[in-house]
Amino acid sequence: MCGIIGYIGERKAQPILLNALRRLEYRGYDSCGIAVSSSSIEVYKDAVRVGELVKALPQFDGTIGIGHTRWATHGEPSQVNAHPHYDCTGNIAVVHNGIINNFQRLRQQLINEGHTFVSETDTEVIPHLIEKYYQGSLEDAVEAALGDIEGSYAITVLMAGEPKLVAARKDSPLIIGIGDRENFIASDVPAILEYTNRVIYLEDGDIVVVTPHSLKVRTGGTEVEREEHKISWSIEEAQKGGYEHFMLKEIHEQPKVIRDTLAGYVSEAESVFDLAVMRDDGVESMLILACGTSYHAALVGKYIIEELLRIPVRAELASEFNYYAQTLAKTGAIVITQSGETADTLKAIKRLKEVGCLTLAIINVVGSTASRIADQTIYTRAGPEISVAATKSFMAQLVVLYWLVMSHSKVDARRLASMLLGLRQMPSKVQQVLDNEDKISEVARYLSRYEDVFFIGRGINFPLALEGALKLKEISYIHAEGYAAGELKHGPFALLSGDTPVIAIVTQDNTYEAMLTNIKEIKARGSPVIALAGEGDEAIRELADSVITVPRVNAIFSPMVNIVALQLLAYYTAKERDCSIDTPRNLAKSVTVE
Ligand code: F6R
Repeated sequence: MCGIIGYIGERKAQPILLNALRRLEYRGYDSCGIAVSSSSIEVYKDAVRVGELVKALPQFDGTIGIGHTRWATHGEPSQVNAHPHYDCTGNIAVVHNGIINNFQRLRQQLINEGHTFVSETDTEVIPHLIEKYYQGSLEDAVEAALGDIEGSYAITVLMAGEPKLVAARKDSPLIIGIGDRENFIASDVPAILEYTNRVIYLEDGDIVVVTPHSLKVRTGGTEVEREEHKISWSIEEAQKGGYEHFMLKEIHEQPKVIRDTLAGYVSEAESVFDLAVMRDDGVESMLILACGTSYHAALVGKYIIEELLRIPVRAELASEFNYYAQTLAKTGAIVITQSGETADTLKAIKRLKEVGCLTLAIINVVGSTASRIADQTIYTRAGPEISVAATKSFMAQLVVLYWLVMSHSKVDARRLASMLLGLRQMPSKVQQVLDNEDKISEVARYLSRYEDVFFIGRGINFPLALEGALKLKEISYIHAEGYAAGELKHGPFALLSGDTPVIAIVTQDNTYEAMLTNIKEIKARGSPVIALAGEGDEAIRELADSVITVPRVNAIFSPMVNIVALQLLAYYTAKERDCSIDTPRNLAKSVTVE
């Protein structure tokens, strides 16, 4: 959700903190701030983007500091609500991600004890609690303060005159970056990748004391060792590489993402995970859980698993799954999450574990919380996805889902070979869609004039209608709804007019004829129709007002080409409307609160 950075070393902290905040801005960006310590603590924060903060910021000289980009939960975006927050003396500064559930009670208690609060945030209780418990050891005071807190947190604490940073996590990610005579604390790898690729992932309950030359992790009062990991992404992968936006770069990376993800698994001597394991364990049906775009991948997964393996599959929203009674007997579960930190998805994994469901997680971010709590993890190899709108991670999720189905030990060799061939052709098919960018941007110019748009699809492309609508609404702020094509006449027809274009995803499979009928019905109600259709489809040209052509592929793989066209359509529409594409309003990259 929000982004955290901490620096301690021999260099001036300020430029490093600001650099990191720029890279973290995708995690939350309604306000930001830094605190730097020398003999006292200097804080500067505001309800602005990092670029504006940099322009207004005075020069701080200290070599220890913390910074934060915020995505508001408690209290509107404002200067006082921005982080860092500090205690009454101004000597203790804290940045925090997560939510403190009992903050109202703690706040009242602290006010009764004489503390003065200036913000509406839950975070502000933390520096006051540390102040209350401080008796000469910052880490002991932090530990005591956290003992009072119920909720989730990743925090970093700075205290005037103390040559150290103290950090802690519970249900919110935090890493330590290990440098040469300097160390870093961050909520996410891209923040520190320019300085080091050596990281330690903190675990829930860890409190760490970081100096320029050392770090000590303790958990439950005992000192523990945490394994060091090497990040394999390069800094270039976490930068724009000449593209105007991360989103466009990430869309264009998709042929490579397919190759990398396939290469990672197809070359393995043994399949990474055999879905048959679930069946052999007495599992008779499957459940796929996820949120947002990952949920749309889950829906595609349902189609391909049911179609090819004939196993009953339910795909559900993790946020809903957590709140109703479930029949989970003899069920195997897959969860899909790019970040591995989505609160609803993590909660779902915990619930699955409680009832003894074998849980396989498909995750992009290595070392994320989901990978540590699921029974087994398969990593998508999409690399860092910076733009808030998920694009290449969705593609990589699809590749893993296809591969899971293909590597099922009950799939016969001929079928496996033919599917593998199809999948291996997908990078060049996706490239053909990318090469059609000019035509798609032309359609986007037309679409950008409207305020309401429907997306329709059938069968395996129904989830693509949902995803196309999600992409368009989140980055262009056009109201868009995805529907199963057959459902439009059960209500939404009332909204059709010349002002509501319909984007129809047309596939050459058993849904084709029904789709043409739906398009005719829509045209009869006066709505302009933009069709996404395979090469050589002449019938659709006669019907639709505009056609975006995609290469013909086996229908089972059609989501992989259709999604690229839909992503580009959303991107160019948002660009036409001059929107903040990589950091859309009110959103954040990973949603670590329920
Ligand atoms: C939309 C988008 C979100 C995420 C959702 C789940 O473009 O990015 O809908 O897909 O927040 O996130 P993960 O996959 O990290 O669990």
